[in-house]
Amino acid sequence: MAGLRISSGAHFAFVHRGTFGDNAQPKPSKYEIEETDYGFVATTVVDIVNPPAAFRVTGTIEPTTTRTMRNHWYLPFARRMDMSYPSGIRHIIINCATPIDDGRIQLVKLLYRNETEDQCPIQTLIDWDAAVVYEDRDILEATDPDAALDLAHRTEAHMTSDRPGLIMRRRLQELLKEHNDPEVTRNYAAA
Ligand SMILES: [Fe+2]
Repeated sequence: MAGLRISSGAHFAFVHRGTFGDNAQPKPSKYEIEETDYGFVATTVVDIVNPPAAFRVTGTIEPTTTRTMRNHWYLPFARRMDMSYPSGIRHIIINCATPIDDGRIQLVKLLYRNETEDQCPIQTLIDWDAAVVYEDRDILEATDPDAALDLAHRTEAHMTSDRPGLIMRRRLQELLKEHNDPEVTRNYAAA
């Protein structure tokens, strides 16, 4: 379930260094996380770089800007990412990652925006988001999709910024238990 790894370490600075990530500032940003009955809400403000390809996306030509993010995660595989910029531009992206089989997901993105087509043509947003998603895909496809949900097996090491992903694993495990559908992973055998 590669889609679980929404946050780990310095995700933006490392994975998204070709788009908005600031490679010079790899320290993970702090998330405020509130668990809910449907999943969680994670809020953060991140400094991002603003290359020319992003000028119309962020609504500023400054070399850097900030993004205020309010992420809702809905069990099991949907996310609503609400992003706003100091320019007043706000984008809400709905991600649905549907498992196709044990090694593949189908990711569908819907984007809602508050700027006009004159301010930013839709194709510019599609191209920008595609570049961001392809950065994620490069990492996901280089990662073992068989991530163990049960952390008791200690097959990975985690840091504080992995907390959203750890909550997702625990909640998915609980959901599986509720449906009498125990997790199957070959990673336990190696633990
Ligand atoms: Fe990402």
